[in-house]
Amino acid sequence: MVRALIGVDLTVAKGEFVAVMGASGSGKSTLLHLLAGLTTPSEGTVEIEGRDLGKMRDRELTLFRRRRIGIVFQAYNLIPTLDVEQNICLPLLADGRRREAKSRLEPILATLDLADRRKHRPDQLSGGEQQRVAIGRAMITDPAIVLADEPTGNLDSAAGRHVCEILREACDARGRTIVMVTHEPSVAVFTRRVVVLKDGRCVGSFETDRFDHADELAAEYQAMSSAEAAGAEV
Ligand SMILES: Nc1ncnc2c1ncn2[C@@H]1O[C@H](COP(=O)(O)OP(=O)(O)OP(=O)(O)O)[C@@H](O)[C@H]1O
Ligand SMILES: [Mg+2]
Repeated sequence: MVRALIGVDLTVAKGEFVAVMGASGSGKSTLLHLLAGLTTPSEGTVEIEGRDLGKMRDRELTLFRRRRIGIVFQAYNLIPTLDVEQNICLPLLADGRRREAKSRLEPILATLDLADRRKHRPDQLSGGEQQRVAIGRAMITDPAIVLADEPTGNLDSAAGRHVCEILREACDARGRTIVMVTHEPSVAVFTRRVVVLKDGRCVGSFETDRFDHADELAAEYQAMSSAEAAGAEV
């Protein structure tokens, strides 16, 4: 058995923008899947908005996730048979909110620079375009919580910065709570706090506001992740 996460004790406040950093295999995606209720922890609990995800019935959890959480998967998880518009609108259409889907789609296509790809299926898109569709699908419900797994991993620096600005705006202007996995210090500087995972343990966290440059954040991250993995409550 692989113990992907061990004794992680993480609290994220409402309206926080948190980055999760750590080496490949340190448990970042596993942590995000636990927060989304897509994986059940073998020990411990996950509570969101005062509700224990482990105590919800499947249907209840599905609805809770659809209405409260937007998830950007590391591997996008787009539906191959649906085009860009249908993939982005899926969380609203699944909820019978056709009119909202119609009104929210255009601004999302425009912001993510996907308007001229609207009728393409995922296999007709570049990696970066697929990633932007995944971001659009997560954002179309304007969810209270956004869980994004390396959402800029396949984007060039300008597009990546733009996505960071969209997330930052959701947090600053609309009080959304965002947990974003990234290994790029230039992306993590957009967040307020960095949580560092190492070998499945949380080794600490630090605020980003004292850093003017990504290099300084990178140095702090390196120092924290090279320390012994003891496990910290963050
Ligand atoms: N379903 C699974 N069954 C068994 N082991 C798993 C499973 N999912 C993940 N793991 C293992 O758990 C560990 C953490 O995986 P995880 O995907 O969370 O890493 P990560 O930090 O997201 O890495 P990356 O940066 O490469 O995406 C890895 O060693 C991985 O091999
Ligand atoms: Mg991962």
